[in-house]
Formats: sequence, C-alpha cells, structure tokens
Amino acid sequence: MSGKYIPWAEPYKIKVVEPLKMTSLEYRQKAIKEAGYNTFLLHSEDVYIDFLTDSGTNAMSDAQWAGMMMGDEAYAGSKNFYRLESTVEKYYGYKHLVPTHQGRGAENLLSQAMIKPGDYVPGNMYFTTTRFHQEKAGATFIDVIIDEAHDSLSNHPFKGNIDLQKFEDLINKVGADKIPYICVAVTVNMAGGQPVSMENMKQVQELAHKHGIKVMLDATRGIENAYFIQQREPGYENVPVAKILHELCSYTDGATMSGKKDFLVNIGGFVAVNDWDIFEEMRNMVVVYEGLHTYGGMAGRDMEAMAIGIEEAAMDQNIASRVKQVEYLGNLLNEAGIPFVQPVGGHAIFLDAKRFYPHIPQEEFPAQVLAANLYELSGVRAMERGIVSAGRDVKTGKNHIPKLELVRLTVPRRVYTQSHFDVVAYWVEELYNRRDEAKGLKMVYEPKYLRFFQARFDRL
Ligand code: F0G
Repeated sequence: MSGKYIPWAEPYKIKVVEPLKMTSLEYRQKAIKEAGYNTFLLHSEDVYIDFLTDSGTNAMSDAQWAGMMMGDEAYAGSKNFYRLESTVEKYYGYKHLVPTHQGRGAENLLSQAMIKPGDYVPGNMYFTTTRFHQEKAGATFIDVIIDEAHDSLSNHPFKGNIDLQKFEDLINKVGADKIPYICVAVTVNMAGGQPVSMENMKQVQELAHKHGIKVMLDATRGIENAYFIQQREPGYENVPVAKILHELCSYTDGATMSGKKDFLVNIGGFVAVNDWDIFEEMRNMVVVYEGLHTYGGMAGRDMEAMAIGIEEAAMDQNIASRVKQVEYLGNLLNEAGIPFVQPVGGHAIFLDAKRFYPHIPQEEFPAQVLAANLYELSGVRAMERGIVSAGRDVKTGKNHIPKLELVRLTVPRRVYTQSHFDVVAYWVEELYNRRDEAKGLKMVYEPKYLRFFQARFDRL
C-alpha cells in the first residue's frame, strides 16, 4: 500500500435512473440557433450532459425522498419549519430563520431590511442576483476581493479572501455609517468557486465590528468552503467540516442561503440572523414577497428535504466526494492543456475563454461563443460567466468589463459518474483543437435585468 494511489468512489449507489437523449450535430446546430446562441434558452430535453448549473439540479437521497412524504402542509406552523429552524441553528449557529423560496428571495429581504439609498455594500466579487438586489435597494456595490481573484492563473489557496486594505479604504472614503454590512460569499462563485480562509473571516469581522458594520455571509456554498479550509488551512486538517462551518458562521451576523446548492435539494433557501430587529423586519416582509414566515414560499415537504440535506451535505465523506468529482474533471482538463481558472473550484471548472479563443475580442463575447460551440459540438451544456453576465453599470449604462471571461462547467451533486466527466473532457479538448474555426457573436436582443438569462445572439 505504501505510496500507492488509493482510488476513491462516490459514497452512494444509484437507485433510480433518468435516460439521456443523444442528438445529431445537425439537430444541435438548429437547436442552438433557435436558442439565440444562449444555452439558457435551450430545451433541457435537447441537452445530453447538463453542466449549466449546480443550482437545484442535485439528486436527493432516499432519506430525503422519504422526508418528502412527511410534509406537513399546514399554512401556518408546519412541523417541517421547526425542524429546519433547529437544523440551521445547529449547523450555522444563527438564532432567527426566515425561509424563502430560493436565494434571491433571501437577498431581496436582507437588502430591503438593511440598505438605505446612498449606502455602499462591499463584497468579494459580485454575484449577479446579489448585486442586483443591493443596487435595487439603493446601494452601490464595491468589489473588495483580493487582486489574485481576478487572475485566472494565480494559484492562491484562498482566492475568495477580502482585501482588508480595500475594505478599510472604503470605510475611510465613504464613512462607516454608509456601510450597513459587508457581504462575504463563501465560496466565490464568479471567481471560480474559490474559498475564503478562516483567518481572513476573523480579520473581516474584527475590522467590520470595530466600525459598527455587520458581516453578512452568502452561505450558498459554505459547506464547500469549509471543506477547502479543512484541506488547505493549517490547524484544520483534523477538524470535521460541520465544525468548521459552524466556526466560520460564528464570525458573522447572519447569512443568505440558496438551498439549491449545498443542501442537495431542488428548491429552497433562507435568510438567518442573530439580530432581533433585522429579523423582525424581514419576518414582516416575507409575508408580502414569499409566504407566511413558517414556509416562505416552500412546501412543508421541501423544508423537510432541505433539513435532511443539510445533515447529509455537511458529512465529511459526502462533501469530499462532491469536490473530488470537480477535481477529477479538472485533472483531465489540465492533462489536456486546456486553459481554465486555477486552482480547481468547489462546484465547477471555469474555462478561460480569453485564452481559449484569443482571436475573439471581448466585445464579441468569447465566453458566449465557447458555451454555444460546446453545446453544438457535443450536447454538453455550460454557462457564460463573462461580459454578458457582468451586465451594465446602473448609473452610466455602460457595460461592465470583467477581467475574467469564463465558461462554467458546473457539476450537479450526485448526478453524474466519472464516465460522464471523461466524455465532457474529451469534447472540451476536441473543441480546443478546433479553436481557430470559432467566430464571434453579436447581441441582437438585450433584456433590461440580468441580461444573460434571456439575451439573444447571432453569429458574425
Ligand atoms: N448567491 C450565490 C453565490 C449563487 O451562486 C446564487 C445562485 C445565488 C446567490 C442566488 O440563489 O438561484 O437560489 O436565487 N446561483 C445559481 C448559479 C443561479 O447557477 O450559480 P438562487
């Protein structure tokens, strides 16, 4: 055994299968054209391997499906709510819970409860819906992530970290009374699924609280972040992921959560805080936007499945296999010399479209082209995370020009096997071999909000 590679395997076996549809190249050429070269507009039935997102695309366990039968569908006071509330308190430590239908529902409540027009909200790189709700509530979003996060080649182990100097400069510039909270995402989706270190989290809390600024977590992939701390941060090697997660949250005042990621379910979310006044405001508002405060837009059965999902997701063997699947794909792509964001993130591989298609200028949407071409060639669906996703500045109307122009190959939890990853890696390599043939796109329809979801393009 000594020194020999010990293979690992997913800690579950398959009980139900869902057949995949395979299509011809001609079929896909027509499908992607009809979808305006936007992978969000494809019919999922026309997709072979779906790496669009890890959001709500997870496979539930038999225990979660059994939990669905235990739904208490009372309008008020469902027992599933109380189970969810106590599970969140046990794993995350927050005292007060407001359930929501998904993450952006939670972001809406938190932003409205805490932000006044003219405020500033610093964060570690933007996320599309999070920034949207902050701006809609009247705030200006300020990116205070470390510079390494914007460099796809940097191998920094905690590329999600807050740059404390940037945070402090903002406090000195606009004044702490204009900053209701700092929003810390764990992990950072748009940076490539990169984690924040425990040390950084502690320092952020210290600086923020010194100035009376709250620390709010976007805990959407916090369990993945806790796993990276266990793997990379000295002193945490032998600490269970659940305990690391709890400690991470202890440096914050609350969190928004999209349960559709870490929690191994298809729908759900929450916002949780320690502060009674913020809770009271959100509990009051949830009845307007989501549903009563004991279901917040979820069915009782969804809350039950989510509570069970929290327990399963935070088990060391489960979270390890989740991240190792992503790593497996990353290793195949590294061997093939494909340019993507280093190091491998928690939920996805982010192909670097600027290095993949250096001949296509950013105004011609290289990442959008790459995602469309990958689908056309192989039936594998990915997502643009570049200039289209970045959208426009709300004040000037000008395009945001992100440094990172990426395509996300996102891995749903417990859905695909290693052979699927072999197939995806094969087709990405094949696309890379044909990279000189690729041509840019022009946008022919641009929606007003979160344009990447519904925008349409034509080939140049
Ligand atoms: N925060 C992060 C970091 C996210 O990745 C998402 C969703 C949200 C908040 C919003 O949550 O979708 O439940 O309303 N990300 C999905 C994705 C859409 O594909 O990355 P939601």
